[in-house]
Amino acid sequence: MSQEISGTYYIETYGCQMNEHDSEKMALLLEELGLAPAQSPDHARVVIVNTCSIREKAEHKVYSALGKLKSLKRRNPEMITVVAGCVAQQEKQKLLKRIDHLDLVLGTHSIAELPRALERVAQTRERSALTEFSQNTESLHLPAPNKGKSPVCSYVTIMQGCSNFCTYCVVPYTRGPEQSRPAHEILEEVRGLAGTGVREITLLGQNVNAYGNDLPDGMSFAQLLEQLDKVEPLDRIRFTTSHPRDFNDDLIAAIRDLERVCEHVHLPLQSGSDRVLSAMRRGYSLAQYIEKTDRLREEVSGVAITADMIVGFPGETEADFNATVEALTKIRFDQIFSFKYSPRPGTAALRLPDHLTEDVKSLRLSRIHEVQDQITEEYHKAAEGTEEEVLIEGVRQRDNQGFGRTRTNKIVNLNRPDGIGPGDLVKVRITRGLKHSLIGEVI
Ligand code: SAH
Ligand code: SF4
Ligand code: F3S
Repeated sequence: MSQEISGTYYIETYGCQMNEHDSEKMALLLEELGLAPAQSPDHARVVIVNTCSIREKAEHKVYSALGKLKSLKRRNPEMITVVAGCVAQQEKQKLLKRIDHLDLVLGTHSIAELPRALERVAQTRERSALTEFSQNTESLHLPAPNKGKSPVCSYVTIMQGCSNFCTYCVVPYTRGPEQSRPAHEILEEVRGLAGTGVREITLLGQNVNAYGNDLPDGMSFAQLLEQLDKVEPLDRIRFTTSHPRDFNDDLIAAIRDLERVCEHVHLPLQSGSDRVLSAMRRGYSLAQYIEKTDRLREEVSGVAITADMIVGFPGETEADFNATVEALTKIRFDQIFSFKYSPRPGTAALRLPDHLTEDVKSLRLSRIHEVQDQITEEYHKAAEGTEEEVLIEGVRQRDNQGFGRTRTNKIVNLNRPDGIGPGDLVKVRITRGLKHSLIGEVI
């Protein structure tokens, strides 16, 4: 146990699964230092805000979270305050100037340095920003805790960073270039997780289809899945995110043939207009995208396909937007996550002409919500009466309702799941399809 740091810690997490998983890794490091988790930041010795900067709104939330820490720290001067994640990486030293009650800025490649950095702050009270993208890949190789948020589902990092530079996106700047984790490390981690009762793993990377491209003799993503599929006693393997440009037949075959690999692909389309796709530098046309999803559906019956969409990219005309709406009605995604384009610092799209007004973006966003909500509800209605395999993730005490997911990643709520608990794999009949979820009963 450290001489300098004792007490409790509190981590507030924003952003994507990578950030959630990074928070889990930081929690493990803090527990190894002898700190215990706190229910609130009020009396914690270490408070970390793990931040996201994917859109302006996400970044604003971070500043208001940090604002709230000011009075806490005044009452508890021993508190060490840390900003981690993508805003830390993006703003670096500037955050220390802007927020005077901040002790440490921890960039996305510096997570492994957290314990040493905290001890330094405790000893010297010197404020610092650790935001180098060095050759040091210690953070990529960090082991993850056996138990994350859920006792049965775990994330596993297979790569970090992104080298795609889509013109709207900050991720290549905040997470650095694509780097794959060696397969033997991933396999070891997954075996360890399976041994502690984890039933489902989700492999994480910004573009999992590029897995291994940067490793000497690296195996491909499909080959990695083949290895992971042999790990007993795991039930399910998921992965996110796939990039349409690199999504290939080998991966389709892996989803078709490998028993544990689930029939769900998150394949962000972003726009239905070729002109906009090209301005986004996505590297595929709508026709190429549809060709891949058609093939996926032919080979893997019942596969669910979800996507991210951006409306209001600079220069997006009514015709471009209509192409997006048409693409949604043609492809019929199971679900989409849609966003208004948000200008991000340092990105190429920032300098494009014809940025749209908030009003236009909001109108377009509500239009595509409307279109997709109807499609999603139609899928859910069509599922009524069907049988699904559900992995139970938890049972709510409040109403004695169980919840879990189908292999296609749809949430199912179960009434009176007597005798059933997290980790059980049950056969369920879907009794009702609602807008956002399914209701079922155990058969
Ligand atoms: N690597 C993944 C997703 C990364 S971010 C991929 O390539 O698909 C998640 C989603 O946020 C993106 O798919 C995109 O739809 C959205 N996004 C990213 N930057 C954005 C921006 N500047 N404005 C609005 N949405 C954005
Ligand atoms: Fe961002 Fe594009 Fe990389 Fe996804 S692929 S993280 S959208 S740059
Ligand atoms: Fe946000 Fe960084 Fe993830 S910007 S979405 S936390 S990679």
